Amino acid sequence: KLSNFGKIAPYAQLFRQGLLVTVLLSLFTVAIGFVLALILALMRMSNIRPFRALAVDRNGHLREGGPLVWLSKFNPLSFIATAYVEILRSTPVLVQIFIIYYGVFGMIDLPSFQMFGFIKFNRFFPGVVALGMNSGAYLCEIIRAGIQSIDQGQTEAARSLGLSQTMNLRYIILPQALKNILPAIANEFVVIIKESAITYTIGVQDIMSAVNAVKGATFIIIEPLLVATAIYFCLCFPTSKLIAYFERRMSHGDKR
Ligand code: ARG
Repeated sequence: KLSNFGKIAPYAQLFRQGLLVTVLLSLFTVAIGFVLALILALMRMSNIRPFRALAVDRNGHLREGGPLVWLSKFNPLSFIATAYVEILRSTPVLVQIFIIYYGVFGMIDLPSFQMFGFIKFNRFFPGVVALGMNSGAYLCEIIRAGIQSIDQGQTEAARSLGLSQTMNLRYIILPQALKNILPAIANEFVVIIKESAITYTIGVQDIMSAVNAVKGATFIIIEPLLVATAIYFCLCFPTSKLIAYFERRMSHGDKR
């Protein structure tokens, strides 16, 4: 019924606050996720093999096979990062959020102040941490693919000009990779805007929690849901179009 929309008008402020929470949550999530992903990607591409010496026998010859050779190739950093990525990508976000909120922050007492006077920090923070940890796993693969898509010749040229491995990564590879993966990172932002709706289950006051509040106070549900739909659509649709536009524009310079 159209008149039901009139009944949610007094709760417009809740939706405005929810919108702010959803946007803030998504921005922080992608920022945390990106830093985490960069660390994970570097761990996965690292070449540290602490047991390498085990593959060499007494006479200094390389062993032929067997478990020692396997162990000599073992890279703990890469193993940990790979396990992290695969576990977080193969379990539901809802489960991860509950584990972080009830498990981790159930033991740590967070200060219960309100950001901007209405955002409950002890709900918002676990939400950001959980979503950021999840997003980091997906962004890790994006970054890794971006770095590996840069032609090997770039590294060879940089190294032959005397740049160290680190300088090569910092000044040659990462700037080019970052440009290529920027659209994918922006897309992750849109995914997180939608995914963040799930944080209302731990009491984050996002757009979905405004829907729930209206439902509890007025017993109408379809109308606030339609309002939420409209808000999410207005956030995500233009952003996706904008990303697609910049993706097309940025690729002009790459045509050869
Ligand atoms: N909806 C998926 C789930 O419940 C998570 C997708 C997260 N995707 C992402 N790019 N961060 O597990």
